[in-house]
Amino acid sequence: MSAIALLPAAGSGSRMGGALPKQYLDLLGKPLIWHTLHALHAVPELARIVVVLSPDDGWWDGYDWQSFARLTVLRCGGDSRAASVLGGLQALAMSEPGNSWVLVHDAARPCVDPALVSGMIAQLAEHPVGGILAVPVADTLKLADAARHIDHTHPRDQLWQAQTPQMFRLADLAGALEAGMGPDITDEASALEKLGQSPALVMGSPWNLKVTYPQDLQLAALILQARNT
Ligand code: CTP
Ligand code: MG
Repeated sequence: MSAIALLPAAGSGSRMGGALPKQYLDLLGKPLIWHTLHALHAVPELARIVVVLSPDDGWWDGYDWQSFARLTVLRCGGDSRAASVLGGLQALAMSEPGNSWVLVHDAARPCVDPALVSGMIAQLAEHPVGGILAVPVADTLKLADAARHIDHTHPRDQLWQAQTPQMFRLADLAGALEAGMGPDITDEASALEKLGQSPALVMGSPWNLKVTYPQDLQLAALILQARNT
């Protein structure tokens, strides 16, 4: 079974700070997104790997991407992650069947394990909706009041932390994003949920962190170094 990876990479990295968007920050001598692409190219089921850049991106062309044979670059990123993903899906829909599986993966998750992605594709191949990588919440959760005091402890038994990839059929996901676009749509699954669908949770990994703050970049370097030694 083949599938397509779609990487939204059109963000500005405001929580990271600095002028260079985090997908281009140096991580072990390469731009961060290089590691994400490298991991996805090690997934044999991914027939195409499609990156969505901002139309204003002035960095991508400064690097050499020739080693990535299955790569397509689109410059149709939008104002939100969801808009970038939808732009990518609409472009893909011109050449790919609507029932193709698309795995949306944050460019900012460079430590994703190729074996985990292959396992997810195998597990969801016959699923009617699709699903996402996620991990059960480990910490005790506190609900805060306005003065930042604890209102109560929230039970965590059924809580999972969403990761990516998130795997859905091309036409289903494009339709759900078109119908539900708004600030509450912070991942692909939430768009499907809004239509009453119930995506599957596939066990992810704590190593599959999203680089958001400066400390995450250090953690990502440690994870990748540990994997390569
Ligand atoms: N993304 C995107 N288009 C946007 C916003 C985000 O393609 N308009 C991408 C980012 O490039 C990243 C992924 O979505 O790979 C996850 O988003 P996030 O971690 O929030 O990245 P940024 O939006 O760049 O960071 P911040 O929210 O701190 O500004
Ligand atoms: Mg963001």
